[in-house]
Amino acid sequence: MDVLETLDIASWRGPFGAAVRQDAIAALERGRVLFFPHLPFVLRDAERSLLTPELSSGRAKNISLDPSGRLKHDAAAKDQQILLQAMMQRFAADAVALVGGLFPAYAAKLERARTSYRPVEIAGRKYSATKDDTRLHVDAFPTRPMRGRRILRLFSNIHPGALPRVWNVGEPFADMAAKILPRVKPPMPLAAWLRAATWQTRGLRSRYDDLMLGLHDTAKLDMDYQRATPKNEIAFAPGTTWLCYTDQVMHAALSGQFVLEQTFHLDIDAMAEPARAPIGVLEKMTGRALA
Ligand SMILES: [Fe+2]
Repeated sequence: MDVLETLDIASWRGPFGAAVRQDAIAALERGRVLFFPHLPFVLRDAERSLLTPELSSGRAKNISLDPSGRLKHDAAAKDQQILLQAMMQRFAADAVALVGGLFPAYAAKLERARTSYRPVEIAGRKYSATKDDTRLHVDAFPTRPMRGRRILRLFSNIHPGALPRVWNVGEPFADMAAKILPRVKPPMPLAAWLRAATWQTRGLRSRYDDLMLGLHDTAKLDMDYQRATPKNEIAFAPGTTWLCYTDQVMHAALSGQFVLEQTFHLDIDAMAEPARAPIGVLEKMTGRALA
């Protein structure tokens, strides 16, 4: 399996040539990981003080910045907070420029969601099975109904030394779904309504959201699947950047520390090939509309 598409881009801001853009969108929508080995996110001198796990509040895996500029889950003092916010905003702006430049067709429908900073080493942390991101999964969140919209994520390893971010990338989405979907249990009929009514989710969940969360949980809980499924281990070195549809690419983050991540949401009608979206694949498999 050739899961990586390497792009020799050395600047966050285009213009990028037509051939590069065409290769990038085709590979991305087919479920490959776009890899930018020469695209570092460079910290300013003062920002090097942010390279410490102490910044994390410990309540969540990641420090997050919402698009309005509000920080969450940090334990930083006021002056550090200002630095942290500025670094994350700068990363977000670079991410927006790169994705906008590479995929001009997405621009009108692309929503900038959360930015996150992950300053804690992954290896050795203990989580419940369904929260354990060292197991292969597609992204799906109980509190964030997508109704078929895409989750696109850009990552940059900013480790100051040599520590790579190590991922496993698994089989194509359709292959995974063919194995896992028959075992996904239907949700309790009132569960979606109740969650929305009690403000546990932003908006009503669709059948698509239930199936995606079912795929996420069922795959993570199935240790035989985790062991036997084909996987590619990839070590993303410091100074490199990568981008993929994490609702489509089976991925697991095994180890590493100090990564910045930007999430985007995208309507599927902005895609070059909307039928390749998970909702297209799942609707074909189930023979019904899911959102
Ligand atoms: Fe994930």
